[in-house]
Formats: sequence, C-alpha cells, structure tokens
Amino acid sequence: MSDIAVVTGGSGGIGAAVARMIHEKSDGQLKVCIHYNGNEAAAKSVAADIPGAFIVKADLAAAEGRKALLDAVLAQGSPYALVNNAGVDKPHEPALMVEEASFDKIMGTNLRAPLFLMRDFAREMVRGEAGVIVNVSSVLARKAVVGSAVYRASKAALEALTAQFAQELGPKGVRVVAVAPGFIETAMTASIPEEQRAGIRKDVALGAFGSPEAVAESVWHAIENQYLNGAVIAVDGGMQL
Ligand SMILES: NC(=O)c1ccc[n+]([C@@H]2O[C@H](COP(=O)([O-])OP(=O)(O)OC[C@H]3O[C@@H](n4cnc5c(N)ncnc54)[C@H](OP(=O)(O)O)[C@@H]3O)[C@@H](O)[C@H]2O)c1
Repeated sequence: MSDIAVVTGGSGGIGAAVARMIHEKSDGQLKVCIHYNGNEAAAKSVAADIPGAFIVKADLAAAEGRKALLDAVLAQGSPYALVNNAGVDKPHEPALMVEEASFDKIMGTNLRAPLFLMRDFAREMVRGEAGVIVNVSSVLARKAVVGSAVYRASKAALEALTAQFAQELGPKGVRVVAVAPGFIETAMTASIPEEQRAGIRKDVALGAFGSPEAVAESVWHAIENQYLNGAVIAVDGGMQL
C-alpha cells in the first residue's frame, strides 16, 4: 500500500499541472490519483504521463461521487495529500440576475465538495497522524468582478474553511493550506474576450495571465513545507496590490 496524492479536477488545466508536478517533485514517492468528472480523455492523457497514476470518475457535488472517490483511493493505499482543485465559475451572472440553480451548481462543486472531502479524507489522515490538504481558491475571493458573485462567495467560504480545518486538524498532524490563483490560462478562462483580457492584464502588476505550472509549484510548496498551515498563498502576478 502506498501514500496517495489525490488531485480533484485532474482532467482540467491546473489539476493536470498539479498531478504532473506532484509526481515529479516527489520522485514518484506519492502515487497520484487523477480525479475527473466528464473529461475522461483528458484524465487518461494526464495519467499516461505519470507512472503508477490511476484515474477515478466522480461528480463531487454529490455525496455518492465523493464516496466513490474515497473508496477508490482506499483500495489503492492511504491518502497523504488531497488537492481540492475541481471547480466551476459559470454561469457568470450580474448581481441582480443571480439564479438559485447557479448557486446550487457553483456552491455544490466549489464549497460542498471540498468541505466534505476534507472531512472524510482528513479522518483517514488523522489515523496516520500525517497529511496535507490544499484547497484551490481564487483571487476573486477578495475582488469584485461583475458576474462573479456566487463564485466569489464560494471561494471566500473555502478560505474560511481552510483556516477552520487548519486550526482543528493541526494538533492531529494534518495541515490545511489554500492556494489562490489569479487569472490562469486554462479552459476556464479561454472564452474571455480579448477586450476583457486586456482589462484584466492591466490589473495585474506583472501584466499577464499565469500558467497552470505556476499554480502547481505553489501547491507543491504547500504539500512540502511542513510548517505551512492555514495560509492562503496568492499566485496572481500581483492582482491584489
Ligand atoms: N483558471 C483560472 O484563471 C483560475 C483562477 C483562480 C482559481 N481557479 C480555480 O482553479 C481550479 C481549477 O480550474 P481550471 O482553470 O483548471 O479549470 P478547468 O480546466 O475548467 O478544470 C475544472 C476541473 O473541475 C472539474 N469539475 C467541474 N465540475 C465538477 C464536478 N461537479 N465534480 C467533479 N469535478 C468537477 C472538471 O472535470 P471534467 O472536465 O472532467 O468534467 C475539471 O477537471 C478551480 O477550482 C478554479 O475555480 C482557476
């Protein structure tokens, strides 16, 4: 049985980079679980690059999906790292247009899923008195962009949960950290029109969108640095300044 690093949304842009980074930086010591929801082809292609990796399909907004992921991981070993990366940002609705269905969709994936995955995976980690959870938040947890009300709320709440779990799990040997990316080149941002992209770039001190690998480096740092707990690491090129 081996130590496993679980990357939710490993079929997406940031998740794929995180999965590859964990394998490379751990010298293969951590077996990588690549979770996906709908994009099996992408998950398979990431797994093909990573010796020993395995893929698991699950809708994490649903309790059965989260249980399926945990069961699949326990069948292969013990979870050492959980990267709660799966997330959705759409639909983009101005504040006066927010729909209850959008709230359920975004909160289900971005908040309910990581909350209960943290609870269930941390129970396993606490048994071995070792483990780390990295929650992927967003610069938008602290910044108003038209159309991002529910997304912003989901990520701000995820950061609050990060602090809470870090406080309660630290004494049990489990660390919890958040990484908050700025605008990163992935499928999530690919549909932003060029005019809007230019406006966003002006807001970033470094003047550019970031790469998934830049986020993955910080996720790895959070996994590796044994004195990091409860922090939110911004990887946003200076969008908060
Ligand atoms: N890109 C950015 O600029 C940016 C900035 C700040 C924060 N983030 C955060 O970074 C994380 C990754 O984003 P990304 O840019 O890599 O997006 P992405 O390429 O669109 O990937 C999103 C991932 O989430 C998975 N997913 C979506 N709904 C799911 C559900 N209900 N259950 C399980 N998995 C689900 C997708 O799975 P399938 O494709 O297999 O369905 C996919 O693997 C998200 O949490 C996002 O909020 C992104």
